[in-house]
Amino acid sequence: MRHNDLTEARELLARARSVTVLTGAGVSAESGVPTFRGSDGLWKGSSALELASPDGFARNPHKVWEWYNLRRRTLLRVRPNPGHLALAELERRVPEFGLITQNVDRLHQAAGSKNVVELHGNIWEVRCTACHAVFDRTAVELPAEPRCESCLAWLRPGVVWFGEMLPPAALQTAEAWTERCELFLLIGTSAIVWPAAGLASIAKESCAKVIEINPEETPATELADISLRGKSGELLPRILGHA
Ligand code: OAD
Repeated sequence: MRHNDLTEARELLARARSVTVLTGAGVSAESGVPTFRGSDGLWKGSSALELASPDGFARNPHKVWEWYNLRRRTLLRVRPNPGHLALAELERRVPEFGLITQNVDRLHQAAGSKNVVELHGNIWEVRCTACHAVFDRTAVELPAEPRCESCLAWLRPGVVWFGEMLPPAALQTAEAWTERCELFLLIGTSAIVWPAAGLASIAKESCAKVIEINPEETPATELADISLRGKSGELLPRILGHA
């Protein structure tokens, strides 16, 4: 594994005809969206299971919605950063490109990325807990107690919570893209939440080169061919040849 070999990363990217990217919360950090596990992370000071699990929601839906409504309001104010924009540009350059994200903020799409799989759902959709109807509530201020229009049961955020299955079609596509790619980029993720964390190993087993971009070491670092230490909003434009 090589550290900080920006030149080789740039060359691999320029040559690759099939690229798959996995992103996590770190890619949105420079937009002002907090990550989950950093020193100011979202999971600090409160239990993840209280705010992001079916049991937590059953116990206190008001508290869960208060937290999601706060996150929705924060996301209304943020813009894609140069890292998101570089990934959208990469998609336009590479013949076969897929972006797998664990993020629920839709900032990749806002930056212009098209071929995106949302492994953990997204925060703008809501779903009825009784009739399972799905509603798009993008950029809409929700009431403190959001209810289904048709059956009046509680709505819940359209995200994947701890203990829940990932959307099967999204996971299948993510695995297929990972198996077929020549180059796999792992960006801004602590690489500890499964099954997303297992994708880098699938890429490696399928003989892809793996490049990690993260200011810190992660469990995936040891299988990366190149590990770039730094912020994605700074490094991605550079490996695309800007500045
Ligand atoms: P984490 O908060 O676990 O990790 C964020 C990663 O981003 C860390 O490894 C940081 O070092 C890195 N990072 C911070 N700033 C960065 C920057 N500017 N550029 C690049 N990297 C940076 O977030 P995820 O790995 O996305 O799931 O977490 C995975 C899942 O755990 C989330 O989707 C969420 C959470 O619980 C659910 O809610 C189901």
